[in-house]
Amino acid sequence: MIHTQDLIKKRILITGANGMLGQRLIKFFMQQKYVEVFMTSLEEKSCFGYNNYIQVDLSKRNEVKKVVYDFYPDFIINTAAFTNVDACETQRELSWKVNVKSVEYLAETARLIDAHLIHFSSDYVFDGKSGPYSEVDKPCPISYYGRTKLAGENIVKLISPLNTIIRTNVLYGPALYGRPDFVKWVVTSLRENKQIRIVTDQINNPTFTDDIVQAVSKITEYKRQGLYNIGGKEFLNRFDFTLRIADYFNLDKSLIEPIFTETLKQPAPRPLKSGLLNLKAETELGYKPHSIEDTFSIIKKELRL
Ligand SMILES: NC(=O)c1ccc[n+]([C@@H]2O[C@H](COP(=O)([O-])OP(=O)(O)OC[C@H]3O[C@@H](n4cnc5c(N)ncnc54)[C@H](OP(=O)(O)O)[C@@H]3O)[C@@H](O)[C@H]2O)c1
Repeated sequence: MIHTQDLIKKRILITGANGMLGQRLIKFFMQQKYVEVFMTSLEEKSCFGYNNYIQVDLSKRNEVKKVVYDFYPDFIINTAAFTNVDACETQRELSWKVNVKSVEYLAETARLIDAHLIHFSSDYVFDGKSGPYSEVDKPCPISYYGRTKLAGENIVKLISPLNTIIRTNVLYGPALYGRPDFVKWVVTSLRENKQIRIVTDQINNPTFTDDIVQAVSKITEYKRQGLYNIGGKEFLNRFDFTLRIADYFNLDKSLIEPIFTETLKQPAPRPLKSGLLNLKAETELGYKPHSIEDTFSIIKKELRL
């Protein structure tokens, strides 16, 4: 027998299910009573063993079409991306395929079934000369990753009439699977008495993944469209952020060596004075990011750090 609540359930397709942000979105939406979730990632299996999962290479148009038409979602939340900023410089074709072509396939398929596409972008669409940035500031990417993310935004706006683009920066949070987030990496390294070198000249507002989940939940609830910045509560440089981690977890701060970005000689240039202003999300979505110390407390508890 079909129940009324099954008919009004929101159908949400989440891509990048095994990624840092995807994991948290899934944890949240799987607990919602009136939501039907289906998820995809590049790996064969869901990192949490869910059955409502299928392996999809989003850079293959037929695979995108099949999963979208089979599930027929109301919302598609696209967290999948080629996120290794330095590798994007050398693997340009692949990063374009994932960050632009895949987005094109999702957008055109979403359009056909009138699904609302929620897509993630980055502060790397800016050059980092005059941050923090609002939604009306003009993008000017300085890395290939930034160029692909801007092209991804443009293709969403061009093709998909029902869309929300979320720009965020420096994600951290309790990822139970995959590479450790920045906080876990710092805590583990310092506990092992390893010296770490951290840049003092990259300023932004690091964003707690569960704060993004909160914003996405509001976007699906209010069906808000357009461009939103979703960043953390405080603007600070990476070195100061690392000191705050060390303070909170009671670690040896003398192991943290301050350096300039230039010293690292990374293939991709970084926006230095960056960060994203949250005013629009605060006003329209009631977005309220946690304080930095509250986020550390959640991470400590969830990861038993
Ligand atoms: N992390 C940050 O600091 C940051 C900052 C600003 C913006 N963002 C944006 O926020 C979003 C989420 O980032 P994240 O840190 O959660 O990323 P992530 O942990 O790297 O996860 C991305 C996911 O995309 C999947 N993927 C890659 N290529 C794919 C393909 N061809 N087909 C299907 N899936 C594919 C990956 O699968 P595999 O793991 O199997 O490769 C991975 O699960 C991205 O759009 C990113 O650009 C992130």
